[in-house]
Amino acid sequence: MAEHLFIDQTAGKATRYQQVLPQIEALLSAEDDLTANLANVAAALKQTFDFFWVGFYLVKNDVLVLGPFQGPIACTRINFGKGVCGAAWERQETIIVPDVDQFPGHIACSSESRSEIVVPGFLNGAVTLILDVDSQYLGHFDQTDAVALEHLMRMIERKL
Ligand code: SME
Repeated sequence: MAEHLFIDQTAGKATRYQQVLPQIEALLSAEDDLTANLANVAAALKQTFDFFWVGFYLVKNDVLVLGPFQGPIACTRINFGKGVCGAAWERQETIIVPDVDQFPGHIACSSESRSEIVVPGFLNGAVTLILDVDSQYLGHFDQTDAVALEHLMRMIERKL
């Protein structure tokens, strides 16, 4: 298994997604344990983009429970429809929040987080996990992130 990521840190984010996604796919193909895979995906995204917080919440007994992540400690449980994560679960779609202060009900795990993208993952048509990425900068996420991270979630779903 590869132990190093090869990323051109001077490249723009579209290029970096193009570089990291195949390497993540290779990591996933070498391992079947979900926790191990989610942990490495969070680490790979943190290493590639230096996101403030990146990690997963898993649906367990009708609540989102904190899974593998990189960044400061975070809220451990989020209810259906609550916060950005719970809203993405309810709407079953990606949510980009350019300014977390403008999102009604946003859950502030850290006051340093300014913008956010949340992407749901599905098993048999139901949301089973959520990818949450937070930035210290306003308006950090756009369609480039949405398309790439949705592609990533389709890769993870194949390992569920
Ligand atoms: N801000 C998220 C909560 C999770 S933390 O950002 C890691 C939300 O509103 O759902």
